[in-house]
Amino acid sequence: MKGFWDERYAEEGLAYGEEPNVFLTQVVDLINPEGKILVVGDGEGRNGVWLASEGFDVTSVDYSEVAVKKINELAKEHEVNINTICADLNNWDWPREVFDAVVTIYLHFPSESRAAMHGKMLDALKPGGKIIMEAFNKAQLDYPSGGPPVLDMLFSEEELKQDFSKLNIKEAYEKIVYLNEGKYHVGDGAVVRLIGEKKLPE
Ligand SMILES: C[S@@+](CC[C@H](N)C(=O)[O-])C[C@H]1O[C@@H](n2cnc3c(N)ncnc32)[C@H](O)[C@@H]1O
Repeated sequence: MKGFWDERYAEEGLAYGEEPNVFLTQVVDLINPEGKILVVGDGEGRNGVWLASEGFDVTSVDYSEVAVKKINELAKEHEVNINTICADLNNWDWPREVFDAVVTIYLHFPSESRAAMHGKMLDALKPGGKIIMEAFNKAQLDYPSGGPPVLDMLFSEEELKQDFSKLNIKEAYEKIVYLNEGKYHVGDGAVVRLIGEKKLPE
């Protein structure tokens, strides 16, 4: 899969555009101002760079070297600092209890690793930290607006509620939304969105 992303990002321009994900912009105020944010699978950095420009301390991780190079270029263009890490999240030495938020936008895993990956995101949060997620749900197979063409890699609201059951789930829902993100997410899309907060110790 990494080769697939390297090839996509070697194309001219930004595959998912330069504007941040709309849902992220709608809910960003939930994150502590100037907090530390981990952006997983940040691609070419549209979300990480935007968050850095909003004053957050951002770490972006992606396993595509081409993507990470483009994140650094975009950050330079916008004159913001961002910490980039090129790593496969399956093998990464995940930090624990460090971040005020983990932002995961269209980062899909097969069912065999999905719950474990989501568990690592949960562990990376400080108490009170937030998970902000948008991904494609299983109905996306009927829509030509992007995403993995494999049912096993698409997420349902129920799966996510299960994976993040240790969080206080603030919002979790499936919805059809119109996407206009670069050239690879265009048109109606079946998405699932989740916001969860890590519980404070009792
Ligand atoms: C659909 S793209 C979304 C990119 C970005 N989040 C956005 O919304 O513009 C999925 C990204 O996840 C990255 N990715 C997928 N699996 C990964 C893994 N195991 N470790 C690190 N990055 C991964 C890919 O390289 C790709 O950049």
